[in-house]
Amino acid sequence: MNVLWIFAHPESRSFGGSLRDEGVRALREQGAEVRESDLYAMKWNPVVDADDFGSAAGSDRLFVGPTSKTALLTGELSADIRAEHEKLAWADTVIVQFPLWWYGMPAILKGWFDRVFVKGFAYGVQRPDGRTARYGEGALAGKRAMVVLTTGTSQAAIGPRGINGEVSEILFPLQHGALWYTGMSVLPPLTICGADRASAEQYDVAAEALRERLRTLSTQDPIPFRHQNGGDYDDNLVLRDDLAPGRRGMGVHLDV
Ligand SMILES: Cc1cc2nc3c(=O)[nH]c(=O)nc-3n(C[C@H](O)[C@H](O)[C@H](O)COP(=O)(O)O)c2cc1C
Repeated sequence: MNVLWIFAHPESRSFGGSLRDEGVRALREQGAEVRESDLYAMKWNPVVDADDFGSAAGSDRLFVGPTSKTALLTGELSADIRAEHEKLAWADTVIVQFPLWWYGMPAILKGWFDRVFVKGFAYGVQRPDGRTARYGEGALAGKRAMVVLTTGTSQAAIGPRGINGEVSEILFPLQHGALWYTGMSVLPPLTICGADRASAEQYDVAAEALRERLRTLSTQDPIPFRHQNGGDYDDNLVLRDDLAPGRRGMGVHLDV
């Protein structure tokens, strides 16, 4: 197993940093190859700029219509992005670990996706029948991904009727909109709640939960997101009326 562990936390001696160390160690002990993208340690630049877009050069016109906003096509991707592509291409499994910050991922991690998941590498692949391969198929199909999340809030408060909303909804943009969109199979996340106030004993429980999830990475069932091209959606990519009838929201995109 080739695992890329993406870690977004400014402090390696934090709860999350300790979990990362534990996870990488456990994977290596079970024989996996592990490479890391420790975004703060790498001083990752999270900001997409005009060069990344590669479309402004040579033109002083205002927007006049659709353009291909991908530097990949012009061969201008910067070295830091190409290095991440090389790691992703190598990996069969991707761990994305971060603390929940304002209901989302830290900006440095969002900026990793913004700059690394470019058209031609992560999406924009055409199927032989002319349809676009995405949501369950596409450039990164065949890889497995798992989110490892720590939160300040308690498990109950991020549960079905908790004030934060559910983890599955908070993670929908990442798990469905980025990982599944690009074709990866998304394993259920490991969420460690109440990490701010965790005791040493609670850390040990979290570390064991992580080790257990890592032991079974290749056998766990992924989240059953619906495939875009599996017949569940109409030509406008709207779920058919007879599926999840009367329901709406993110949960309808699960085939359960
Ligand atoms: C900028 C910031 C925003 C945060 N937003 C949330 C949040 O929306 N929900 C939540 O449960 N915890 C939130 N927290 C708490 C962190 O998730 C928590 O401190 C972290 O997961 C604990 O792990 P650590 O000790 O490794 O940082 C936030 C913390 C910071 C610093």
